[in-house]
Amino acid sequence: MCGIVGYVGRSQAAPILLDGLRRLEYRGYDSAGVAIINGDQVETRKCAGRIASLAKLISQKPATGSYGISHTRWATHGKVTDENAHPHFDATGKIALVHNGVIENYQTLKEQLIQDGDTNFQSDTDTEVLAHLIGNIYQKLNPPSPKGSDVAGGKDSKARLVNATRAALKQVIGTYGIAVVHADIPDFIVGARRGSPLVLGVGKDENFLASDVSAIVAHTRDVVYLNDFDLVSLDRENFEISSIEGTSGEHPVSKVEFTAEDIKKGDYPHYMLKEICEQPDTVRDAMRGRLTYEECTAKLGGLDMNPAELRDIARIVLIGCGTALHAARVGEYLIEQLANIPVDVDFASEYRHRNTPPTEHTLVFAISQSGETADTLGGLRESKRKGYRTLGICNNVASTIARESDGGVYMHAGPEIGVAATKSFTSQLIILNLIGLLLGRMRQLSTAQGKRMIDALEALPNQIEAALKLSDQIKSIAKKYVEATGMLFFGRQFNYPIALEGALKLKEITYLFAEGHPSAELKHGIIALVRPDLPSIFIAPDDAVFSKNVNNIEQVKARKGPIIAVTSGNGAKQLKNLAADIVEVPTTIDCLSPVLTVIPLQLLAYHLAVALGRDVDKPRNLAKSVTVE
Ligand code: AGP
Repeated sequence: MCGIVGYVGRSQAAPILLDGLRRLEYRGYDSAGVAIINGDQVETRKCAGRIASLAKLISQKPATGSYGISHTRWATHGKVTDENAHPHFDATGKIALVHNGVIENYQTLKEQLIQDGDTNFQSDTDTEVLAHLIGNIYQKLNPPSPKGSDVAGGKDSKARLVNATRAALKQVIGTYGIAVVHADIPDFIVGARRGSPLVLGVGKDENFLASDVSAIVAHTRDVVYLNDFDLVSLDRENFEISSIEGTSGEHPVSKVEFTAEDIKKGDYPHYMLKEICEQPDTVRDAMRGRLTYEECTAKLGGLDMNPAELRDIARIVLIGCGTALHAARVGEYLIEQLANIPVDVDFASEYRHRNTPPTEHTLVFAISQSGETADTLGGLRESKRKGYRTLGICNNVASTIARESDGGVYMHAGPEIGVAATKSFTSQLIILNLIGLLLGRMRQLSTAQGKRMIDALEALPNQIEAALKLSDQIKSIAKKYVEATGMLFFGRQFNYPIALEGALKLKEITYLFAEGHPSAELKHGIIALVRPDLPSIFIAPDDAVFSKNVNNIEQVKARKGPIIAVTSGNGAKQLKNLAADIVEVPTTIDCLSPVLTVIPLQLLAYHLAVALGRDVDKPRNLAKSVTVE
């Protein structure tokens, strides 16, 4: 949530910052702003609304200068107003700060500042309090000598800003990724992180700070992923990293895996559609090099566990939020079926506060596309604290969850920009299947069963291609139901979580009411909602529970509820007289069917959202990466 970008170099900062913010807009889009230093003046442009509004403001009143900081906001403290947009300033107006995170003790800090005579607050934000605190400490630290080499803006001033930031952050309870500039200290930015991501981009005669590499990858692919409690200072040529406590450590420069091209929309009207259509490739990438025909199993070196340890696993816990949680729910069914290991699934936000009885030989998997979700990270840390082996299933390389886990499996899905998760979901499903296969082959799965599963996995990319060809049919279904006020989603076993995911996609981007349920739950209450203008979507592939689904479809039909069926194999024939619309996906083995059945539901949400004129990639009130609790 919230994105920050900083630039110091020889080019004009404004276009670089604006372009970076556009790439981070998925992190929040309530308001945006820049502070660019021109001589000893801070040029500030900020406003409520999207980056496009900020760009307009800057085109009307250009901001000149070759270093500055910027921000796109997802509001936590304070309404969405121009005043509450970042950057925020200290009492002198010389220090500007952008912040991603939450200062939990901002009220206490504010009272202390007020007692100290600092009353000039312009906003309701927690961030402004931090800017004032840094400024307050900066004033109290020894000013540089006006004579000699340490004139204002020289080495001493830089150290003074670093020390003031460090001292202020030591008083902060909460999370932050920040960037700070001082109008009198040319070509110099200070950054720090705790709980919110921050990456340093290393260029030639220019350096960058950003919440995410996508903001800077057009300028450099050499980056340093900062750790929690790192404090960095940067100018055009150099950077220095220490901890908030003042100690130094190792900070290797890494190469970003993807390029600026990978984060372009290309010919697609929306990132979401692009990402839906990328799934044949992303599914292939999720299993690339991870299947072995000789042993008919999966190889997952990132788990960093030997065969004896894998065989000893007695329980698995899967945690995540939103779409990642739905993948976990599929994982529960499939790991239990393939490997006969008890699996518990929980919302990361619930799990972290629960007092679950400890168990031996338990593995905890934290599933997260971004690898930065605060609730999932909290669950992971709680598991570690209890001494469990914790593993990450993440897409974002070097994200906090990936780094804090004892091991894990990367999705390799490439950047996912659309706020609605699509390709990351199918990658998560593939990885969970690989885990099921690996653990199953250590236990009850025969070579023949392992081979059958590998064959089915390898067939998936082409089958997804076939499912994507349903797009036109689904578009006409979306048009037919464009007046509907909501939809119900039903599925059983592996496809119950797909009902949840279909409903989430629909809610997220169309703003329509939607709920997912196990099909059999209908008769326990939900059937009261069934009526002629509320479509029910049954995810009923031709699997072990198909006939049970048919019973429930009959119950809806008997009450005149319109039915859309997502099916496979012989399903279409049997549903011909029951469903108003039948969407046929290719047939696969039961545990892989969610990878195919989810595609029409992603497309349905997409086409309906477009038909309703919604902002598909940036739905209201949401942000891609939820780094607050
Ligand atoms: C999915 O469409 C949502 N945007 C949301 O539920 C998301 O899956 C959730 O916030 C978890 O994100 P993560 O995978 O990055 O942890």
